[in-house]
Amino acid sequence: MNHNRELDLATRALRAGHLVAFPTETVYGLGADATNDDALARLFTVKGRPAQHPVIVHLGAAPDLDQWARDVPSVARDLAAAFWPGPLTLVLRADARVSRRATGGLDTVGLRVPSHPVALELLDAFGGGIAAPSANRFGRVSPTTAAAVRTDLGDDVTIVLDGGPCAVGVESTIVDCTEDVDGAAGGIRVLRPGAVTTEHLAAVIGGVPTLGGSTRAPGTLASHYAPHATVELVTTIQLANRAQELMRRGQRIGVIARGSDLADLMLPPETVTLATMTTVDEYARLLYSALRNADEIGVDVVLAVAPPPDGIGAAVTDRLGRAAGGR
Ligand code: TXA
Ligand code: MG
Repeated sequence: MNHNRELDLATRALRAGHLVAFPTETVYGLGADATNDDALARLFTVKGRPAQHPVIVHLGAAPDLDQWARDVPSVARDLAAAFWPGPLTLVLRADARVSRRATGGLDTVGLRVPSHPVALELLDAFGGGIAAPSANRFGRVSPTTAAAVRTDLGDDVTIVLDGGPCAVGVESTIVDCTEDVDGAAGGIRVLRPGAVTTEHLAAVIGGVPTLGGSTRAPGTLASHYAPHATVELVTTIQLANRAQELMRRGQRIGVIARGSDLADLMLPPETVTLATMTTVDEYARLLYSALRNADEIGVDVVLAVAPPPDGIGAAVTDRLGRAAGGR
């Protein structure tokens, strides 16, 4: 089907209260009209997501935020100006008109202007806010391709806009701007690390933001973003021994690491290399497809060597830790 026709169908589906999966630069989203309570209810059902977990409302342009948020602090406007469109979600005080179904009953709302051209086209054509969590079932790995969305959600979503593989690969940085804290760091709190790093934020707010905090964000649960295979974080030094040990116990092993980590290692020949990356950006881009791949080929244990914490490396290590989820 041609692109404009598909976009038109998707826009009409959203207006009719149906769900539409669409690409963003981070991961694919499962979208619903953020003002339609029935559509939002369907969204939570399809996701299998508890009703008290808020979803991010996607907007077409930064000025739209005043239709959704009130008492917007200047630090939030500075961050929007610096990083939108892009992989940053701002948690702000919700305008009274915002459906509490979208906010999980909270009086705050997560807002983001994505940068993927197809997402922006859809938002522009729809003309309103699109509530969209990642287009996977609750607790599982976020999809970074249209094919992964179809595998996960099957017939529960009829329209999947294909925008190719996601360029970033891990979910947006979430920054809470609702605390009444003044001072050098602007009172912001990073609830989830992402491609907009602490250093990027610090450059705009003129101070180091606080890390961690909310318990209402499912992406911050200890076990989340998890494949069916067990994920273990190992160091380069531990990798070969651990692979051998598990293999002796009859386990099928998959490895995710940077090429430089594997260069001098003697891994058992049966080891499946799920992904090898060069840079931390590439690590982020390939991580979720590697974890999905592990499940598709029936790997029992994924041994992953975390990247260094620079840049998006911190976000990758955060997601690996949650995929390993207490195991
Ligand atoms: O990159 C992304 O952010 C992707 C794409 C599709 O935009 N979306 C995504 O959505 O990751 P989801 O629903 O899987 O994760 C949204 C996160 C959750 O951890 C949620 O709790 C948090 O955002 N969130 C949303 N609104 C919030 C609020 N008012 N207060 C605290 N956390 C909020
Ligand atoms: Mg998610």
